[in-house]
Amino acid sequence: MNTPAALIDFLNTPLIIGSKTIQNRMALAPMAGIGHTALRQVIASFGGHGLLFTGMVSAKAVPQENPNVSTVFTWQPESLNHTVCQIFGGDPKSMAMAARRIESEGFWGVDLNFGCAVAAICKRGAGAALLKTPGLAVEIVSAVRESISCPLFVKYRTGWQDNPDLAVAMGQAFENAGADALTFHPRVAPDRRSRAPKWDIIGQVKQAVGIPVFGNGNLFQPEDGLKMVTLTGCDGLSLGRMAAARPWIFAQWTQGVTPDRHIYHDTAMQMADVLAQYHDDVTAVKLFKKWAPYFCANFKFSQSILKQLMKANTIDQLKNKLHERLNVPPEILTVPNINLFV
Ligand SMILES: Cc1cc2nc3c(=O)[nH]c(=O)nc-3n(C[C@H](O)[C@H](O)[C@H](O)COP(=O)(O)O)c2cc1C
Repeated sequence: MNTPAALIDFLNTPLIIGSKTIQNRMALAPMAGIGHTALRQVIASFGGHGLLFTGMVSAKAVPQENPNVSTVFTWQPESLNHTVCQIFGGDPKSMAMAARRIESEGFWGVDLNFGCAVAAICKRGAGAALLKTPGLAVEIVSAVRESISCPLFVKYRTGWQDNPDLAVAMGQAFENAGADALTFHPRVAPDRRSRAPKWDIIGQVKQAVGIPVFGNGNLFQPEDGLKMVTLTGCDGLSLGRMAAARPWIFAQWTQGVTPDRHIYHDTAMQMADVLAQYHDDVTAVKLFKKWAPYFCANFKFSQSILKQLMKANTIDQLKNKLHERLNVPPEILTVPNINLFV
């Protein structure tokens, strides 16, 4: 599908965020478990990305983390100038300390997770739980702001009730506390990803703040990107699951690159190789299998291809199966099989 020229123009318009400027407005959304160094490296090999966000990392752990051993707090040195590290936690002091380490490592920016609705995170008073204690959320933004000078993002969602006014008030409070940009995911917390996001609330947040707002949620086709920008006036786009399914989507949307039919086979092989470069065989296979549902959602026979990949026990077996199923390009769905996009 061709990318509309208006979307290419919009995405290639520089944007000032705090003390820095990005040359393109398309970001990889944070995704724990799949937004790791390997996926970010595969995305970067195609180009076209503005910022790439890491999956969330525990703020309590960050000060002691060893990037040579950690599977989450790790990066390629050459990626630091476009990578934002996301942290979660419920305590201003530890969030500020983590942010300081992230800045000192040379990341482009820091992102605060106020949107994760997973019980294990909310139980600790972190992620979306902070939207129930707005005073504390704002305190965290202020404490982190005081501790770093690099750009500070807050990623949050509508909240626990379907109340756009609260979402707007939160956005304003985060801006006043020193956030440089917001990524807004317009779903209420218990919804997870099962219901359609209400994009119009992105527009309401955008109208109410002076800092850039990245819109997020259900961006699948280039037309969706243009529609979100037109409908909401948002300043940038944040893509999660589609970027996992099609890591070349940044090049496609920002440069109008048309992928060739072999890109699915070649990208899956590349992912297997990059994972094997960073991890032992067992971990590499485990991480590939976490990514596989999003990738296989591209195919008409997604379930059958996925089932076969899931049987592999080593990276070599995985690559043999990938070759068997994808060497002759399979039939591709225009919109990926949403049932695999959990
Ligand atoms: C596997 C997975 C892991 C995620 N992990 C995080 C996370 O660590 N931090 C966060 O803020 N959002 C996380 N999200 C939510 C995404 O950033 C994004 O808000 C959501 O997927 C909607 O965007 P999309 O429709 O483009 O996928 C995760 C989503 C998925 C699918």
